Amino acid sequence: MNDVASRLRFPEFRAGSVWLVGAGPGDPGLLTLHALHALDSADVVLHDALVSEAILSLVPNGARLECVGKRAGRPSMPQLRISARLVELAQRGRRVVRLKGGDPFVFGRGGEEAVALAAAGVPFRIVPGVTAAAGAAAGAGVPLTHRSVARSATFATGHTIRGAESGPDWSALAGSDTLVLYMAVGRIGEIAAALRAAGRPADEPVALVADATLPSQEVYEATLSTAAAVAEEISPGTPTIVIVGAVVGFRDALLPQLETAPASAGLSSVVLETA
Ligand SMILES: C[S@@+](CC[C@H](N)C(=O)[O-])C[C@H]1O[C@@H](n2cnc3c(N)ncnc32)[C@H](O)[C@@H]1O
Repeated sequence: MNDVASRLRFPEFRAGSVWLVGAGPGDPGLLTLHALHALDSADVVLHDALVSEAILSLVPNGARLECVGKRAGRPSMPQLRISARLVELAQRGRRVVRLKGGDPFVFGRGGEEAVALAAAGVPFRIVPGVTAAAGAAAGAGVPLTHRSVARSATFATGHTIRGAESGPDWSALAGSDTLVLYMAVGRIGEIAAALRAAGRPADEPVALVADATLPSQEVYEATLSTAAAVAEEISPGTPTIVIVGAVVGFRDALLPQLETAPASAGLSSVVLETA
């Protein structure tokens, strides 16, 4: 930890407990000090595939890394097994970090893991992280709210649970000034059509922010009528946030002076193990 952080007294990371830690959207500079402290003290780190290599390289050599996300064509571990693994490791007396992209409680299934830990009597802590919506807004130069232009912003997922009858109620969500959509690129045509049917204008600006806050970040501008075609330029599987609303129009004014370079971390040879 650096000098500033060393002046803080962090809570003890007790053996036999689990910390659900938000890793932010990718830039290691967006980790919180609590997150760094957790990584410094952990015996085991169970992480998602979306957590960047730059962040994993900050985990000290002594800690074991277990990837529980989709990696190298292998499917991700079922949620119940992840929760069971957290409980098992804690009951063996380990300090366990569950490192999740963005914030653990925003479309991250952190709630399900917290419920499992509470039910098993395992002490745990939630360390919030910068959610992808905030990372994408900062990286793209799009304020999510702006006095007189957008007084409300809604986060929604474009992903529907397999077998579920319906996804979000787009006609209800269309009432929000700004819409920030996670996991929506694959269905953006359908979503844009539903928003237009609910009265949003066809020429309403849209920004698609892929790999937000990473060196590979790309921002694609579109409108509700062109969003589906523009989304095809994004490689499948690239994490992307879609921002819909008049606030996207601020990019033109902000971009000439906007700096977005992420922090870089010295990459070490991290050993990844899949449990
Ligand atoms: C399962 S959700 C996890 C969200 C996460 N808990 C958060 O708070 O950001 C995964 C989705 O988050 C979004 N996402 C995560 N990281 C991103 C990034 N660096 N750039 C753009 N979108 C990102 C994408 O929509 C991706 O499909």
